[in-house]
Amino acid sequence: MANDATPSERALAEHARVIASRSLPGMFDADPDRFARLSFRWDDWLVDLSKERITPDTLQLLVQHAREIGLEGWIAALFAGEKVNLSERRAALHTALRQQDDTPVRVDGRDVVPDIRQVQARMQALATSVRNGTRRGATGEPIQYVVNIGIGGSDLGPLLVCDALGFPDPAFTPVQVGFVSNVDPEHVSRALAGRNPARTLFIVTSKTFTTQETLANAEAARAWLRAHLPASADVGVHFLGVTSNGAGAAAFGIRQEDVYPMWDWVGGRYSLWSAVGLAIAIRLGWPAFAELLAGAARMDQHFRTAPFEANLPVVLGLVGFWNARCLARTERVVVPYAQALARLPAYLQQLVLESNGKSVTRDGRPVTGPTSTALWGEPGTNGQHAFFQWLHQGTREAPLEFIVPARACHPVADQQRLLVANAIAQAQALLVGRHAQKIRSELIAAGMPGDHLAEEIAARVCPGNRTSTMIVMPVIDAGRLGELIALYEHRVFVEAMLFGINPFDQFGVELGKTLAKPIIGAMRGDAPLAASIDGSTRGLVQHVLAISAK
Ligand code: F6P
Repeated sequence: MANDATPSERALAEHARVIASRSLPGMFDADPDRFARLSFRWDDWLVDLSKERITPDTLQLLVQHAREIGLEGWIAALFAGEKVNLSERRAALHTALRQQDDTPVRVDGRDVVPDIRQVQARMQALATSVRNGTRRGATGEPIQYVVNIGIGGSDLGPLLVCDALGFPDPAFTPVQVGFVSNVDPEHVSRALAGRNPARTLFIVTSKTFTTQETLANAEAARAWLRAHLPASADVGVHFLGVTSNGAGAAAFGIRQEDVYPMWDWVGGRYSLWSAVGLAIAIRLGWPAFAELLAGAARMDQHFRTAPFEANLPVVLGLVGFWNARCLARTERVVVPYAQALARLPAYLQQLVLESNGKSVTRDGRPVTGPTSTALWGEPGTNGQHAFFQWLHQGTREAPLEFIVPARACHPVADQQRLLVANAIAQAQALLVGRHAQKIRSELIAAGMPGDHLAEEIAARVCPGNRTSTMIVMPVIDAGRLGELIALYEHRVFVEAMLFGINPFDQFGVELGKTLAKPIIGAMRGDAPLAASIDGSTRGLVQHVLAISAK
């Protein structure tokens, strides 16, 4: 702990030393009301933190710490459009994008709400025209396939939402939507295989319009159109642009009326609520997109107004901070028990890790302890047959986060019961484990006493005493999904404030982009690598050049 630790930091560190050695099942034995005390409800949501290594005292200390670091003020600053992204001197106003009324939100004195409404009206008109067939390609055919070309925040959000909600009526949907992100040419080739260019529309989504992968894929899309449409066709009408770099989109050949703005007060990974959501509005229709925004706005209101002790993003953020900083956990596993949320772990990897994978404070000093845990996951029940073994019997404890919809969207209700029961049983198994004595009596009862009984028992022991959070959401629909995504956005913000870092920049990502340029130049034969480059990088480039020349 740093010498200048505050009283609440000292109290938390001391408390963590005591709690770290306590057994979770023991905590349940000691407090029959533990579930009631440590589970939190809002609307039809339930967040059960009773299987986390905390007590009500822990939460009290964490709330005290949140007050001490001025979390309330930070939340107010976020919503008010203050420049909470200090290193880039920008606001982070994703909340304004889903605000339901027209209360002014000012950035540098200018109310941005009228701009938002204007873009939303354009998005609605565009989505409607694509869906009803009045938006046509260069040869006069209606659009049936829309491809979003973008990466990171310009891909993962719309992909998550379209994948989650795009299924119910595939036979009736007027337009299909695809996504291309990877610069690997395989991605764009697969997305375009068998498609009709005359009926395909591309949305080039890039806040900067300089992202190498996106521009390369947009070029590939244009080449595909040119190769397959008549020479006289204006392929430009097959492109929309979503960007804050209008000049870049124009230079690519996108008509001005087809460019939808992004603003520098919206970070890429917080941008699905903006025109970045065009693919969603086209795939699901405007009413569903509007409901997604309304859901996020409901969560915003809850985050903004609920007392810390009853505030879902706050309590989740407090426990995230506790696990990472106070208990020094290095990982967190997110398992949505919902195939519709299959893309959620990938979405959260960017949201959480690009935001909170930092090691300096907002004022430029080294942080005084760990920041975000790593995050990975897969949908349940699939994960149970892959990495859950590691969770139950591996040597490290990784807090697990279950996300479970209580109600099914499908008529096969019994399968939904199987799904939810599995989630609850896995959380229970992590808590209670399976102990030697019980295994011994089971083996003996099954007639298995033998020379190797001790080894057979040892191999079967699950220590239990492993933590998890259970988030039960009512159902997966547009509004609830909006609530879920906003819940995570705000939780990331809470954790960042507690870590003392800026969640809205990502300078680490820039380094790789910069260093790729001379390597690309060398691989293309444009310029040799600098003499000072490290031996491994030089060796790898030379090896790939030699093999690819064969
Ligand atoms: O991965 C870094 C990043 O800057 C993300 O933050 C962003 O979402 C992504 O690249 C794409 O950037 P752009 O929208 O400018 O193409």
